[in-house]
Amino acid sequence: MYKLATTLLVLIFAAIVSEPAAAADDAAILGCSREGVKVGMTYIRHPDAKKLEEAVGIFKSNRENVDYPAGTIIQLVPHEVMVKRTKAEFPNSNGWEFFILNVSGKTATVSARGDTASNPLGTCISCHGPAAKHDYVCAKGHGCGPIPVTDEQIAAIQNQDPRCPAH
Ligand code: HEC
Repeated sequence: MYKLATTLLVLIFAAIVSEPAAAADDAAILGCSREGVKVGMTYIRHPDAKKLEEAVGIFKSNRENVDYPAGTIIQLVPHEVMVKRTKAEFPNSNGWEFFILNVSGKTATVSARGDTASNPLGTCISCHGPAAKHDYVCAKGHGCGPIPVTDEQIAAIQNQDPRCPAH
């Protein structure tokens, strides 16, 4: 009896500990792309305020050879996301996991993820790779393959994200 009770307690505790974190992670990856701190055209999110500040600082400073903290979520357009995991999980991209989302109305589902995801222009890593000194973040002037859209077009795409509250 004691054993059963202990097992149940362990299970309940594990559920309490693991679920909110996973749910928060999913919501931040799958939710409105215009959440977080906007630097230039780019949105940066992190569940931990200090680490968010650190990530924003790295992006703004343009410093080389600094890694973004694990848990950083970066987004430019509504259906593509970069999430910093660990180097052990994604050694080819210094720990970044790339996502392509299917956005339909208020919801999004994962269409592809990992370090080999690609969009019609190529694999994410093929363009982001040259920015290795900037931890694979392209921004402006980090050497990434060019994308055929202007900032104005990016802004228009960002404003069309149906998951975001009307403004
Ligand atoms: C053709 C090259 C190319 C491909 C392929 C590409 N990107 Fe990018 N990506 C860029 C460039 C260039 C920028 C910077 C744009 C800017 O800030 O003006 C960028 C910016 C981003 C950003 C904002 C942070 C940053 O690095 O500046 C994210 C997030 C992103 N891309 C995710 C992805 C994902 C996910 C994929 C694959 C599904 C992908 N990209 C594929 C070239 C590419």
